[in-house]
Amino acid sequence: MIKIAFFDTKEYDKKLFDEYNKNYGYDITYLESKLNSETAPLAKGFDVVCIFVNDRVDEKTINILKECGVKLIALRCAGYNNVDIKKLGDLTAVRVPAYSPYAVAEHTAALLLSIDRKIYKAYQRTRKYNFTLNGLLGFDIHGKTVGVIGSGKIGKAFINIMNGFGTRVLAYDKFQDEKAAKEMDFEYVDLDTLYKESDIISLHCPLTDENYKMINEESLNKMKDGVILLNTSRGKLIDTKSLIKKLEEGKIGGLGLDVYEDEEEFFMNDMSNSYIRDEELSILLTMPNVVVTSHQAFFTQEALNKIGLDTCENIKEFFETGDCKNKVK
Ligand code: NAI
Repeated sequence: MIKIAFFDTKEYDKKLFDEYNKNYGYDITYLESKLNSETAPLAKGFDVVCIFVNDRVDEKTINILKECGVKLIALRCAGYNNVDIKKLGDLTAVRVPAYSPYAVAEHTAALLLSIDRKIYKAYQRTRKYNFTLNGLLGFDIHGKTVGVIGSGKIGKAFINIMNGFGTRVLAYDKFQDEKAAKEMDFEYVDLDTLYKESDIISLHCPLTDENYKMINEESLNKMKDGVILLNTSRGKLIDTKSLIKKLEEGKIGGLGLDVYEDEEEFFMNDMSNSYIRDEELSILLTMPNVVVTSHQAFFTQEALNKIGLDTCENIKEFFETGDCKNKVK
């Protein structure tokens, strides 16, 4: 029987995988710990480690996993920036490349609307029987220019939503999909043009060595005054220090984050009774025009179902054929 060490388990993971596993019969051990070089020895005797976005698989962890006899790293997510794939050697990693681009795109739109129409403020107010409108003034999204960085599955789903609002959409991508641009009515531009002309900028590219902290003081200076910035991709695409500086200067008009540069210790965990704090995150959380969610953009029932099914299938394919169509390269 294939033995799986399931790291960073949340209650909903266990419920989901117990259900899907009825058709596969894997021997799953659920662990609360995140996988890193300190916890990797827990994988001794397991064939597979199943991991999520905030498990860290660096070279040291990879070597320990190999010593433990692990043959497969099954990511139950799309992004794999947390795995040092160049150091994998004969260890294989597989992922779930698409579980629901709509989930993430729709959450990005929710962040945008929440910031624009101050829904988070209105909600707090009306609960206290305060029905004033002061400070709730928003803007029409219709007619604005939206810049989308990364026009893959999620980027395209977000472009579709923005098209519905009647915006002009500019996109930047390392690999342009001209056919989609024509069919979906958006225009590819270089990054500087996107920064200069967009009222709203949304990040939908993967995190790589190349675009680490691409949103920094220099790029922020190129953006429009009052720009709305959205990041549901990966926290390390943005330099948080520069972000705070530009929020304080009023350069950024609104910020929606579902991911954060140093989110590992905090996001998806209840830290409300802990004294551990992250200084920059704390500053962001006190700002009036910032909405932060806890890496929840993927979190819809439809996406979870696909994650459960595809992860189980990936493991089956790998052990039956020695390969997998969703292998990370
Ligand atoms: P995808 O692979 O379909 O699209 C990514 C696009 O980014 C591709 O078109 C690619 O050419 C482009 N790209 C690559 N490097 C780039 C660069 N340096 N600059 C500009 N564009 C670049 O991926 P998908 O499914 O759209 O996901 C995008 C990202 O969203 C993932 O890598 C992940 O980081 C993030 N994500 C976040 C989730 C959340 O819950 N917040 C859930 C799922 C994904």
